[in-house]
Amino acid sequence: MSTETIFSADLAGIEVGETAISHVNGADGELAYRGAPIETLVDKPFWQVVWLVLFGDYPNASQEDALRIFMANNSSLSEQELAILKLLPNDLHPMLMLQAMVPIINLDAADRIDGLSNDAHSGLIIASKLPSLIAAKRQFELDRDAIAVDINESFHTNFLLMFNDQAPTEKQIQMLDTAQILQMEHGFNASTFAGRVCASTLAPIQSAITASIATLYGELHGGADQAALEMAQAIGKPELAAAYVDDCLAKKIKIMGMGHREYKVLDPRAKILKPMAQELCDSGDAKAIFSTLVAVEDACREAFNKKGKEIRANVEFYKGAVFYQLGVPSHYFTSLFAMARVYGYIAHYLEFSGNSRLIRPKARYVGK
Ligand code: ACO
Repeated sequence: MSTETIFSADLAGIEVGETAISHVNGADGELAYRGAPIETLVDKPFWQVVWLVLFGDYPNASQEDALRIFMANNSSLSEQELAILKLLPNDLHPMLMLQAMVPIINLDAADRIDGLSNDAHSGLIIASKLPSLIAAKRQFELDRDAIAVDINESFHTNFLLMFNDQAPTEKQIQMLDTAQILQMEHGFNASTFAGRVCASTLAPIQSAITASIATLYGELHGGADQAALEMAQAIGKPELAAAYVDDCLAKKIKIMGMGHREYKVLDPRAKILKPMAQELCDSGDAKAIFSTLVAVEDACREAFNKKGKEIRANVEFYKGAVFYQLGVPSHYFTSLFAMARVYGYIAHYLEFSGNSRLIRPKARYVGK
């Protein structure tokens, strides 16, 4: 190993580890999980993609069944978990709620899946309870009782039922499955990397997932989904988008949902989410939000083109419009992101902790 000191404040372009979980090809706008391009995964059954991301191969029928049943059996919150959740302030952001609740989730499994490690079981129990925590928080926020899991319903049907207290349509369930597959995994993004740093200290998986969720919350990362939709709502109509973009650029304010550290061409996830958002947002408020987003994207690209730069929409830009049409208020968007990315976090914990080294960079000391 070289002893030469390399300085990088943001680690951009620096390789800090190996992974076989996903490949982000930023130059060509490609993303693959375990070698499978994202475009081929969006229509696959959700649990097949989860198993692939976690363990490297598609599951056989009995493994897929075992995973689906395990997730259903472990997804109900205990009385104690519900009581603790109820004690949290109603206006606490759902991402802060998850940071409080994940470490105290009861990790005793209702059953086991053959061949999986204890860490894999613990990670899956956390993943199984995130939708129930998020939906129960929503009900408490509305001064209502939490709605119980119906284990006969699919995972995402259950989530939307418990969250909205209303049966979702087939289209909504399919859109949620697709959006969640698109957000499941993405190399050494900031939150996954934070989880790997945490895992490198030999902290348990619930600590690593909490560290990741805490990092996902920020607006430059997962929190951009909420910020992008609220930006479109504040702009109000497409005709005002160009002036908004010019004003932001003049004041050096970042336009949320635009730009990406890795992708210098269109984010392949945004390419899939944009037509989905267009299809769902076909009337009223949602239509105005969608057309405003399109106008912001166009104005932003044009303004950057004039400076000889290419800035394109990232995964966050149109996703909010999809979630909005699923009945999810904007302050819950990032928690739905966590519900999907948690499988990536588990996969990295399992991959990294098999061959870990303490991640401990050196500081450049500049004064006293
Ligand atoms: N709005 C305005 N200007 C931007 C934006 C943006 N969204 N994105 C990049 N730029 C500008 C920068 O100001 C910089 O200009 P400069 O060269 O004049 O200083 C130039 O483009 C290069 O951008 P960097 O900030 O160096 O790009 P970096 O790779 O560090 O940042 C980031 C990537 C943080 C995502 C940035 O594009 C951004 O802040 N976007 C908005 C927040 C966002 O959408 N985050 C979600 C990312 S996806 C995800 O995490 C799941």
